[in-house]
Amino acid sequence: MEHQPSIAFVDDDDDLRNANRQTLELAGFTVVPFADALSALRVLTPDFPGVVVTDVRMPHIDGLELFRRLRAIDPDLPVILITGHGDIEMAVEALHQGAYDFIAKPYPADRLVQSITRAAEKRRLVIENRQLRQALESSDETLPLIGQTPVMQNLRKTLRHVANADVDVLIAGETGTGKDVAAGLLHEWSRRKQGNFVALNCGALPEAVIESELFGHEAGAFTGAQKRRVGRIEYASGGTLFLDEIESMPLSTQVKLLRVLETREVTPLGTNEHRPIDLRVVAAAKVDLGSPDQRANFREDLYYRLNVVTISIPPLRERREDVPLLFMHFLQRAAARFKSEAPEMTPALRSRLIDHDWPGNVRELSHFAERVALGLGDLDGARISHLADTISLPEAMERHEAKLIREALSTNNGDVRSTVEALGIPRKTFYDKLQRHGIDRADYAKVKPPGG
Ligand SMILES: Nc1ncnc2c1ncn2[C@@H]1O[C@H](COP(=O)(O)OP(=O)(O)O)[C@@H](O)[C@H]1O
Ligand SMILES: [Mg+2]
Repeated sequence: MEHQPSIAFVDDDDDLRNANRQTLELAGFTVVPFADALSALRVLTPDFPGVVVTDVRMPHIDGLELFRRLRAIDPDLPVILITGHGDIEMAVEALHQGAYDFIAKPYPADRLVQSITRAAEKRRLVIENRQLRQALESSDETLPLIGQTPVMQNLRKTLRHVANADVDVLIAGETGTGKDVAAGLLHEWSRRKQGNFVALNCGALPEAVIESELFGHEAGAFTGAQKRRVGRIEYASGGTLFLDEIESMPLSTQVKLLRVLETREVTPLGTNEHRPIDLRVVAAAKVDLGSPDQRANFREDLYYRLNVVTISIPPLRERREDVPLLFMHFLQRAAARFKSEAPEMTPALRSRLIDHDWPGNVRELSHFAERVALGLGDLDGARISHLADTISLPEAMERHEAKLIREALSTNNGDVRSTVEALGIPRKTFYDKLQRHGIDRADYAKVKPPGG
C-alpha cells in the first residue's frame, strides 16, 4: 500500500528541471514538475503527501516567496531550496524560518536524493500522525472497542445484535484481545443493564471456594460457613453473569453449572431449595473449547450448552491495521494521565509497532504505549526487555521492590531492625510492604537449632 513519495519539483530552467526529474525518477520518486511557482501553488494542498524542491532564482514568485506561501498553507510541508552561489546567507535565513534544507549549486545527485529521502520519511510520518488523529476523533463513538478493520466493525455489530437477544454467549480469544470489554458491552447494550454485571474468574479461585461463590450457601452448610451467603448466580439474576477463564472451571462445578443453565434454578449449598433465576451467562475462554484437544477437562455438554452463540475476537496480529490507531489512543490516554505531552511517532516506533507480533495483544500494546508516554519505550526494539513487554511499568516497579525487600531480608536473616536500616524505610512502611507483597519475614529468619 506504500506509495512512492511524490516530489513537486519547481524550476523555470527546462533543462535543469528535466535532468533532475530523470535523476529523481531513477531514484524511485514520483516527480511532478512545475515551470513556475504559481502553477505549483495551484496544486499543493495541506495534505500533499510529499516534498517540495524549488529553485530560488525564478521570475515573478521566487523560491523563497514560494516557501513562505507554502509555510502558510502547511508549516509541516518540507521545502528544499536549491540555491546559487551568492544566495547562501539568504538560504540559511530560510532554514531558520523552517525550510527543510538548502542545496547549493552545483550539487552531486546523491546530495539531493538523500535530502529528499529524509524529508519524504518525515512527511510520511506527519501525514500518518494527522490521519491517526482524525481517525481517533471519529473513533470516539466506537469506544470502548476501538478498531476500523472489518473484523472489528463486525464485532461491534455482532455484539449489539446479540446483546438484545437473551441468549448465553461464549467469547473466545487469546489473552488481552478484549474479552472483558466485549462481555461488559453485552451487558451495557442489553435490557439487563438495570441488573448487576457480576464477574467471576474461574481460574483465580480455589476449587473449594468457587462453588459457594457461585451457588451461595446456608449458614452451617460446611465448616467455616458461619453466615448465609447469596451466590453470584443469584446476585446476577436479572443482570449478567460473566464467567471468565471458564476453561479452568473444576469438573464438579461444571456439572452443577450445567444443571443451573438447563433448569434456570439455583440450589444454594446446604439447602434443598430451588430458587428461580433470570440469568444470562457470558463465558470467556482463552482456548478453543470446540476443539477436543484444547478443551481438555472441559465437559463437551457444557460447551454445547454455552455455545449457543460464540463470538471470536481475533488476535491483534490478525488485525494489524488497527495497531497504530489503538497505540495513539493509549498514548494520548497515558499522556493525559501522566500530565505530559503525547510524543510524536518516530520511524523507530513505527517499525516496532508494525514488526512486533503482540502476543499479549491489546493489553501488551497499551502497556507499551504507557512506557512510551513516560519516555521509556522509544528505543530500538531490541533494547526493550521481554519482561517489560508483558507487564506494565507499575507492575515492574512493584516486582522490583519486592525483590529488593527479599534480598535485604535474606542478607539480614530476617532481622527487622537491620533490614529496615538497610532499606532505609520506616518500620511501619516496611510492615505495610511485607503485607502487600505477601512476604513472610519468618521465612528468612535463621533456623534456630532444636531446643535453642
Ligand atoms: N478494541 C479495543 N479498544 C480499546 N481498548 C481495548 C480494546 N481491546 C482491549 N482493550 C483494552 O485492553 C485491555 C485488555 O482487554 P481485556 O478485555 O481485559 O482482554 P481479555 O479479557 O481478552 O484478556 C483492557 O485494558 C481493555 O480496555
Ligand atoms: Mg480478561
